Amino acid sequence: MSEQIETHLKEGRFFAPPKEFAQRARISSMEEYRRMYRESLEEPEVFWGREAQGLDWREPWERVVEWELPDAKWFVGGRLNACENCVDRHLGTARRHKAALVWEGEPGDKRTMTYAQLYRQVCLFANVLKRNGVKAGDRVLIYMPLIPEAIVAMLACARIGAVHSVVFGGFSSESIRDRLADSGASVVVTADGGYRRGQIVTLKQNVDHALEGGETSVQRVIVFRRANLEIHIEEHRDVWWHRELEYVSAECPAEGFDSEHPLFILYTSGSTGKPKGILHTTGGYLVGTHCTSKYVFDLRDEDLYWCTADVGWITGHSYVVYGPLSCGATCMIYEGAPNWPEPDRFWRIVEEYGVTIFYTAPTAIRSFIKWGRHWVEKHDLSSLRLLGTVGEPINPEAWMWYYEVIGRKKCPIVDTWWQTETGAHMLTPLPGVTPTKPGSATLPFFGVDAAIVDEEGREVGVNEGGRLVIRRPWPSMLRGIYGDPARYREQYWSQVPGCYFTGDGARRDEDGYFWIVGRMDDVLNVAGHRLGTAEVESALVAHPAVAEAAVVGRPDEIKGQAVVAFVTLKGVCKHRQHFGRNCEGMWRK
Ligand code: PRX
Repeated sequence: MSEQIETHLKEGRFFAPPKEFAQRARISSMEEYRRMYRESLEEPEVFWGREAQGLDWREPWERVVEWELPDAKWFVGGRLNACENCVDRHLGTARRHKAALVWEGEPGDKRTMTYAQLYRQVCLFANVLKRNGVKAGDRVLIYMPLIPEAIVAMLACARIGAVHSVVFGGFSSESIRDRLADSGASVVVTADGGYRRGQIVTLKQNVDHALEGGETSVQRVIVFRRANLEIHIEEHRDVWWHRELEYVSAECPAEGFDSEHPLFILYTSGSTGKPKGILHTTGGYLVGTHCTSKYVFDLRDEDLYWCTADVGWITGHSYVVYGPLSCGATCMIYEGAPNWPEPDRFWRIVEEYGVTIFYTAPTAIRSFIKWGRHWVEKHDLSSLRLLGTVGEPINPEAWMWYYEVIGRKKCPIVDTWWQTETGAHMLTPLPGVTPTKPGSATLPFFGVDAAIVDEEGREVGVNEGGRLVIRRPWPSMLRGIYGDPARYREQYWSQVPGCYFTGDGARRDEDGYFWIVGRMDDVLNVAGHRLGTAEVESALVAHPAVAEAAVVGRPDEIKGQAVVAFVTLKGVCKHRQHFGRNCEGMWRK
């Protein structure tokens, strides 16, 4: 540890990792972090080669990395199966009958799925996908509530080399339509409905609307029965998940795919009206999510790990599914809202199941503060040993509250900065090592060559603001924007010469700690979710009554930022009849 950090620790400007945590953490000294960090930059082949050995490969790689800006290839020539790494490889170990998923639905229904059970369900559903014509490389759109079957569907795609594109269940029919048009998915996997704040979200109906009229690539819609809703079944197109299972076997051997085989496309907002399909591939992504889950969450077999994100976001992909399951962890998942039926639902769950690691967004923390600490104090949270945050900057007050009220001053907090594009954590404390400062994502993870630069790419001085860039490729980086290589190069690799531009502004303090200031492009961060101003504007001007629209962000106490729209109407009276329906669709988007 540097002398300066030691002095700061004495002065109370840092929060040192609690001793008991540090003693048994995988990495437990600053020297070890610095040594590994140095190796990861100076000898990436050695470092990443060793980390990748933590996964099962069908064929070894020939080269760790090939890089020709902006195209990276990791573990070149290697072959593996992402699903096999998350499921099958635990079957020959003591984890076979260990819980993989511990699930609670919003109405209070409960299910546990062991690794052996998950394996069976994934194999069965992979065969259902095959029976419905899905082949390696085909795109499958998943639009599900947060139930175990959403994860089963993702892993089943990975098993047969199909590319999943999960669309968050809170998104509208228009979002589904846009993503179908862009990805050309042939199959949609959905549910009749899902529960959210005591209401049923009519997922299948939204899919029906998305498929109404016009050309579509979709051949099949597979529907899981979750909410017992009466739904429309389109003959020759729609099939029930449970009926399909009757026709398939539970045997589905996993095949090895090239390390650069596409794993998924996840759409995120950019600075234009059209969402970008961020493409991730297999080997590098899995190494990145596996390695960060191991070191940043310090995952153990005894843990009950809970990341509250929905699988519709990158956090759900990397830290509900691929990272923790590849580590053989037990993951808690909860379908519904944190304040249903009352604002202590999360703490009830932590107490009842004995959650040990809890990972959520600052917006949620600020909501808990607003709802009052008495909701927390009703529950015994002593099982918690590690807390995390993600998605947006956390204000120091919220950090302190999280530390004191939820963590009882015993849990380290990992404030993890990363993006849909980065696939895995980039700036983050290591919980047994890094002294934390409330509001800072602290230091770079292994292999991350982060810097803050001006418009010309020159590094700025201490505490000077600038653009946050990454100066070399890393295993879990995006491989492109689906179908738009020019936009990929232009957006990420052309703004600062030779560097990946994150879109974020940041500064680095006298200890080398990073402080994220916020987006530098036309992207808002509302409740930890990215929203392009141009996207909202284009939804607004699509309305027949709207002449012009301009959208800006304003600070919001709970959500970080809120959307403010300035709209000029063409003529209110004439179009009034349209308002109800269209505005509702627009806001859902
Ligand atoms: O602005 C940063 C912010 O969220 C953006 C990425 O959003 P998205 O791709 O939706 O992924 C969110 C989950 C990884 C970043 O460009 N952001 C993310 N994490 C943090 C953050 N800002 C500050 N601190 C963080 N820990």
